[in-house]
Amino acid sequence: MTDRFDVAAHPGERAYRLLAGLVVPRPIALVTTVDAAGRTNAAPFSFFNVLGTEPPIAGFAPADRDDGTMKDTAANLLATGECVIHLCDEPLAARMVACARALPPGESEVERGDFATRAAERVRAPILTECPVALECRFLDQRRYGENRLFVVEILLAHVRAGVADPATWKVDYAAYAPIGRLNSPDGYVRTTERFRLPFPRD
Ligand SMILES: Cc1cc2nc3c(=O)[nH]c(=O)nc-3n(C[C@H](O)[C@H](O)[C@H](O)COP(=O)(O)O)c2cc1C
Repeated sequence: MTDRFDVAAHPGERAYRLLAGLVVPRPIALVTTVDAAGRTNAAPFSFFNVLGTEPPIAGFAPADRDDGTMKDTAANLLATGECVIHLCDEPLAARMVACARALPPGESEVERGDFATRAAERVRAPILTECPVALECRFLDQRRYGENRLFVVEILLAHVRAGVADPATWKVDYAAYAPIGRLNSPDGYVRTTERFRLPFPRD
């Protein structure tokens, strides 16, 4: 027995409640950008993932606001072509969520969220220094699907907290890394501390 949900007939709020609730856990990108005047913005996006590695690309989807305007992240990325995508662990969770509040353009969630910053190497958007992972990215593509905007960016440079990834093998040590994920909206999150392994199938 299954229940049917005609998501195509109910786009928007209902589809969000169901689909964002079912397709979990989702990684969360905390994205910093700068506007044309150089002012910093930070916002979290869980419609996000790494999408490929040759070249290394990631995608995330800032939906337009109810009044039809672009979110600051989208506007800044279109204006400057650069961003830094951060992954957060549990000690940073509350500050990451605080970055989701709507502020007037140019008012900085970074300062309000109390993140320390440092300059990135290849992009103008700043790195939030406490985050275990910061990915310097450049804009590749943007497509609109109704109120959704899908951004694809190229990952240029990864800054990873010491001990998390082996500089020789580039392998990640999960004893040192436990990013949080998004569960049900508006306030559900998940830890990634409970793990199991399965051998990859070989023919
Ligand atoms: C954990 C989390 C995940 C979120 N994911 C998304 C998302 O994928 N797409 C989106 O449009 N908004 C998402 N939001 C809401 C945005 O972060 C929020 O609208 C924010 O104010 C946008 O900021 P900006 O205008 O500075 O870009 C999320 C919020 C939280 C707390």
